[in-house]
Amino acid sequence: MANYYITTPIYYVNDAPHVGHAYCTVNADAMARWHRLLGDDVKFLTGTDEHGQKIADAAIKNGVSPREWTDQTSQRFREAWDALNISYDDFIRTTEPRHFETVQKFLTAVYDNGYIYKDVYQGLYCVSCEDYYTLESSNDGNCPIHGSLLTEMREENWFFKLSAFEAPLLAYYEEHPQFVTPETKRNEALAFIKSGLRDISITRTSISWGVPVPWDDQHVFYVWYDALINYLTGIGFGREDDETSTWWPNSHHLIGKEILRFHCVWWPAMCMAAGLEPVSHVQVHGWLLVGGQKLSKTMAAEGGVKLTDIAPVELTDEFGVDPIRYYLLRETSLGNDGDFSHEGITARYNTDLANSLGNLVARVSTIVASKCAGVGPSPELDSDLRAAAQTAIDDAESAWNRFAPNHALEATWGLIGATNAYLEQRAPWKMEPGEELDAVLGNALEAIRLVTILATPAIPEVAARIWTRIGLAGAPSDEVFASSAQWGRYRATLAIEKGEPLFPRIKASVE
Ligand code: ME8
Ligand code: MG
Repeated sequence: MANYYITTPIYYVNDAPHVGHAYCTVNADAMARWHRLLGDDVKFLTGTDEHGQKIADAAIKNGVSPREWTDQTSQRFREAWDALNISYDDFIRTTEPRHFETVQKFLTAVYDNGYIYKDVYQGLYCVSCEDYYTLESSNDGNCPIHGSLLTEMREENWFFKLSAFEAPLLAYYEEHPQFVTPETKRNEALAFIKSGLRDISITRTSISWGVPVPWDDQHVFYVWYDALINYLTGIGFGREDDETSTWWPNSHHLIGKEILRFHCVWWPAMCMAAGLEPVSHVQVHGWLLVGGQKLSKTMAAEGGVKLTDIAPVELTDEFGVDPIRYYLLRETSLGNDGDFSHEGITARYNTDLANSLGNLVARVSTIVASKCAGVGPSPELDSDLRAAAQTAIDDAESAWNRFAPNHALEATWGLIGATNAYLEQRAPWKMEPGEELDAVLGNALEAIRLVTILATPAIPEVAARIWTRIGLAGAPSDEVFASSAQWGRYRATLAIEKGEPLFPRIKASVE
């Protein structure tokens, strides 16, 4: 058992939360829940990134002050996470006083250590990226990501001596082979470092919507510089040192691939400059893309669908919370891009949830109700299913531990498949009440109990319902994994419930 700290990026509040944000947040949530199941002390931080020109512009466009705009939009992220049953322990807003305090303490340390100096900056800027480009790295003067025309900026700025950290970063990567995963992303970060690091401008005088530079009141910190430090604000850096030393040594950032350079190059260098060990691990994930599919009638009617137009609550309203969580976790491996589609959700819902899991629970509880006077019998210690269960436990455990929820769920569904096959073969529905029937049902119930434990980080609400339905008290997450995930522990104390279908048929909304 350990202390385990996990974070998502803090999302920009220029616009509403969309399914791309949900993808990252649900994955982080499943990891947090997995570690709680192991018995770890977990701190799970998410939040909103509220400074910078992009946010200030969005407020003006909507006719409100930046403060009002960020209050409203940040709240929408909280609502989306509540709708998705996200178990965050803390929600950070970069406009909070605690964040100002940590940012100023951290950057003053970097300044005092001699890694910040004043110079003139001239370059091409993209407001959507909140990032500078050189003419060579631009697309003929346009942003390579957004396609919009870059603006020429010239400012007297404070600079961070990133160039001083080329060798220390390479040494850190060498000593920490698991610092960035997957390996393709680690190689990308390494290649960037090896291509040579230039100092970066870290303050702005052109806007005032930001954290003031403590040693120069004409400047605010550049939004990325303030944003990265949120991970330390959440654990009390410069305010509560005990909290920082509790969580930072086992810290994990889950991020999208487009912000790799900030997290895997700048951020560890900033930590080194402040005299702090860098974050322990950065897990990079790919993008969900919409492959030109029509998502629903309404969206099709509005013409064209962008992933960023899809609100998480639209999906949970249509399919239910756990089915959406399951889809986001199951469909792609963290690191690869994935195709997001309504058809994909429907297929997972019907195949994995309704047919495999839903039917398994339904058929077993129906027979127990009719042939065992409603109380589940005990499993056999030497059941044929035991080996399949052990494989699922081992594979799922190792997959969750290496940030591979999709493989953990694949392994878990392997046990569901094996249990359904076992029932087909034994056909308990044809058996008379007696020892043989009891053994088959007890084994199936034990497999279901193990499935709910393994699936609980992904589908906590459904898993808890199944747990109750098979006659167990409490919830699958009540006991630590090491003791609960053992074959032979199933003992019903309550009556088995037949109940409503766990996954009712969904209305086909795609034409
Ligand atoms: O970059 N597929 O915030 P952001 C998968 N504020 N994930 C996606 C996605 C997609 N299509 N679109 C967005 C910022 N994401 C900064 C971060 S951290 C110190 C500051 C997810 O609102 C993904 O995790 O643009 C990505 O990295 C994040 O949202 C970016 O959110
Ligand atoms: Mg972005």
